[in-house]
Amino acid sequence: MEQTVYAKIASYGLVPVIKLTDPDHAVPLAEALSAGRLPVAEVTFRTDSAAESIRRIGREAPDVIVGAGTVLTVEQAKQAVEVGAQYIVTPGFNPTVVRYCVDNGVPITPGVNNPTAVEQALEFGLTLLKFFPAEASGGLAMLKALAGPYGHVSFVPTGGVNGDNLAAYIAQKNVAAVGGSWIVPGDAITTGDFKRITTLTAEAIEIVKTTRAAATA
Ligand code: 3PG
Repeated sequence: MEQTVYAKIASYGLVPVIKLTDPDHAVPLAEALSAGRLPVAEVTFRTDSAAESIRRIGREAPDVIVGAGTVLTVEQAKQAVEVGAQYIVTPGFNPTVVRYCVDNGVPITPGVNNPTAVEQALEFGLTLLKFFPAEASGGLAMLKALAGPYGHVSFVPTGGVNGDNLAAYIAQKNVAAVGGSWIVPGDAITTGDFKRITTLTAEAIEIVKTTRAAATA
């Protein structure tokens, strides 16, 4: 958690995993997330709109922490940084992409789902990792198992997390934040129903706050 951007993300406890098909949706979406008290946007490189969307959020919604998700190549990582991405997320552990980011001081959260991958990340000095695909990889049971040998590692479980299991993940001690797409449904984005996104976001943020308050009470 040495990097400020990750300290902020951990304080929110939530990362919206976003797929945009039109860069015109990027700024209204970022504003909708902010209105739900989550000024964070992870825009995935799953569409051609990703880079332009990241650029616009950086320029027009500067209070929002904007990251690039689903980064699969060094070229995408470079492009993401050029357009203003403040951090990089990869679904799996790609040593080439990780090396590029570490060498260039770009915050990166690589995806892992087993001890071997965790140890590869540790070799690069990384101790904040995406746990993906969380539910399909053993979910909470796997996170609890990883907490034994890797007590200094924190995870961002993503993949199958939603409003129903959010509290259970947030309550787990080695979880820094959870990620997911459920607060940014594709149909809400394409139909311009940004109020729904604000509502879903505010509900999720409330769950995070309530769960954390209960844990420290
Ligand atoms: C990701 O790339 O992090 C996942 O696709 C998000 O998973 P979810 O859609 O199950 O939330």
